[in-house]
Amino acid sequence: MMGTCQMNRQGVWLLCLLLLYGSINKSTALSPDGEALLSFRSAVVSSDGILLQWRPEDSDPCKWKGVTCDPASKNVIYLSLSYHKLSGSISPDLGKLEHLRILSLHDNNFYGAIPSELGNCTELQGIFLQGNYLSGLIPSELGNLSNLRNLDISGNSLSGLIPPSIGKLNKLVTFNVSANFLVGAIPSDGVLSNFPESSFAGNKGLCGKQINAACNGGPSTNSQSPASGQNLGVKKNSGRLLISASATVGALLLVALMCFWGCFLYKKFGKNDTKGFAININGGASVVMFHGDLPYSSKDIIRKLETLNEEHIIGCGGFGTVYRLAMDDGNVFALKKIVKINEGFDRFFERELEILGSIKHRHLVNLRGYCNSPTAKLLIYDFLPGGSLDEALHERSEQLDWETRCNIIVGAAKGLAYLHHDCSPRIIHRDIKSSNILLDGNLEARVSDFGLAKLLEDEESHITTIVAGTFGYLAPEYMHSGRATEKSDVYSFGVLVLEVLSGKRPTDATLIEKGLNIVGWLNFLLTENRQREIVDPQCEGVQMESLDALLGIAIHCVSSGPEDRPTMHRVLQLLESEVMTPCPSDLYDSNSD
Ligand SMILES: Nc1ncnc2c1ncn2[C@@H]1O[C@H](COP(=O)(O)OP(=O)(O)OP(=O)(O)O)[C@@H](O)[C@H]1O
Ligand SMILES: *[C@@H]1O[C@H](CO)[C@@H](O)[C@H](O)[C@H]1NC(C)=O
Ligand SMILES: *[C@@H]1O[C@H](CO)[C@@H](O)[C@H](O)[C@H]1NC(C)=O
Ligand SMILES: *[C@@H]1O[C@H](CO)[C@@H](O)[C@H](O)[C@H]1NC(C)=O
Ligand SMILES: [Mg+2]
Repeated sequence: MMGTCQMNRQGVWLLCLLLLYGSINKSTALSPDGEALLSFRSAVVSSDGILLQWRPEDSDPCKWKGVTCDPASKNVIYLSLSYHKLSGSISPDLGKLEHLRILSLHDNNFYGAIPSELGNCTELQGIFLQGNYLSGLIPSELGNLSNLRNLDISGNSLSGLIPPSIGKLNKLVTFNVSANFLVGAIPSDGVLSNFPESSFAGNKGLCGKQINAACNGGPSTNSQSPASGQNLGVKKNSGRLLISASATVGALLLVALMCFWGCFLYKKFGKNDTKGFAININGGASVVMFHGDLPYSSKDIIRKLETLNEEHIIGCGGFGTVYRLAMDDGNVFALKKIVKINEGFDRFFERELEILGSIKHRHLVNLRGYCNSPTAKLLIYDFLPGGSLDEALHERSEQLDWETRCNIIVGAAKGLAYLHHDCSPRIIHRDIKSSNILLDGNLEARVSDFGLAKLLEDEESHITTIVAGTFGYLAPEYMHSGRATEKSDVYSFGVLVLEVLSGKRPTDATLIEKGLNIVGWLNFLLTENRQREIVDPQCEGVQMESLDALLGIAIHCVSSGPEDRPTMHRVLQLLESEVMTPCPSDLYDSNSD
């Protein structure tokens, strides 16, 4: 019985396949190049719409936008789709375009690897993939493209060595791999010795005479920069380059590692030499308390500061170290020590801090004052006993339930909306991420560290680590230009919402394995209408209506174009009307005290 049943089913399948095949063959006589392009399109998960009028029922793709054919043979010779917000992976089926001469996909949001199959397109003369989020290795098969004249893959997240085969491309006239995460020796024989330093710049791990960096020992060793706790072992310009590079696999791991290592060194250093961690106040320290509502004299505070050492450290971030500062009257503060601010920066710094200190809101962490010591800036904040959202989501064993998560999202939105819309001057946060959302004893959210990124922007060692912690949260245009706007904050807020819903870090290892970050994952689920699967299976009490509404908001916030994202005002309106009804909380007491 079983046997015949299966036979029958197979028979039916076969018939279906035959029919399907027949009908495809009949209605579309699309050329093989056209089929390869449709396959390319199917791997694109979003765009500005340029690919919508690629019609499968055409006989060839020659009139499709971005496509140019040889007029006689109708073979595709140019594919040119730069600046169209294309997001997704680059299909290996491009390798089937046997007569392709120019591939120009630069300045989009492509992620994943450069397909090695491009090595099959032996007529290629130009490859322009710069300004995407491509990761993985440079395929050695590109060395087969003996007609290649231009190769620009700068501004991606490519890692590994430059394959020696590239040196064989002796028709190459322009070559650019700058601003990636390449390592090792630049092949010294072959054409690569002809290119200037700017073809290679911004790859921390590269060495070779082209960039005046001697290679010592194996790839990726770099003994010229002795690691110090303060600069986290990162050399001067790498921070900027990281900013202009992009947010994926190799990059993330590299940077996460650097940050971790920096913190580690910092702590280790502290153990061997507690002086490194004690706060040195001698000689001209002054304490400024904003609002004068705390009953301490400068002397009280300085005396307390001098007792701090590594035992009091509660965290270590991009700007420095955070200590727990307990006063004799039982009040507790968080003290953030920022090392090594440029000389002559003080007045500017003080003015900015004054502004930050004047901002009060129940969803913002209160900056109480600061202390100016010769070696460090010490910022005094209210201490929040609930720690950071990052810890609450990813490190603590007790889970946040659905209502709590909704409430945290709404609280963070209120804090951020206040900075954007109710402060004068408006404040762009620049560093929205779960470690900068702190929780009070009732698990109410407060946004912390607003405005700090701007304040410290020009300080070389900080930028790197800002990016380090913030990778995965940064809007694409912010990563490329380094220019923050309210809309880049909105993007980061969208990522934060996804993180809270999913319980996964934006750069979770399981996502990275698939070549995705959390936004890429969302986009992928969206194409299959499975976006609800993003929700954390551990979260109790999930409500579908509010989940759908939150997903809708997050999707809107992480639009790749800043103009497509809502303002925080709008986000808050949406949260109030669509999320708070099934997710009750204190919505109407949002104003400052
Ligand atoms: N006001 C505070 N109250 C309680 N804990 C705090 C406070 N501020 C910071 N922390 C703790 O210290 C940790 C480190 O904070 P820090 O701001 O230095 O780093 P970060 O938030 O990870 O990165 P960034 O430097 O970009 O803000 C936080 O994750 C949090 O656990
Ligand atoms: C590329 O070429 C190899 C060898 O010629 C072939 O096996 C492979 O199928 C080709 N790939 C594509 C995508 O055309
Ligand atoms: C292409 O390059 C790879 C690796 O560089 C090599 O193994 C392969 O034989 C080459 N294929 C052709 C068709 O030249
Ligand atoms: C390589 O690209 C970067 C930007 O990504 C640019 O600044 C640099 O000038 C380019 N170098 C060459 C040699 O074209
Ligand atoms: Mg912080």
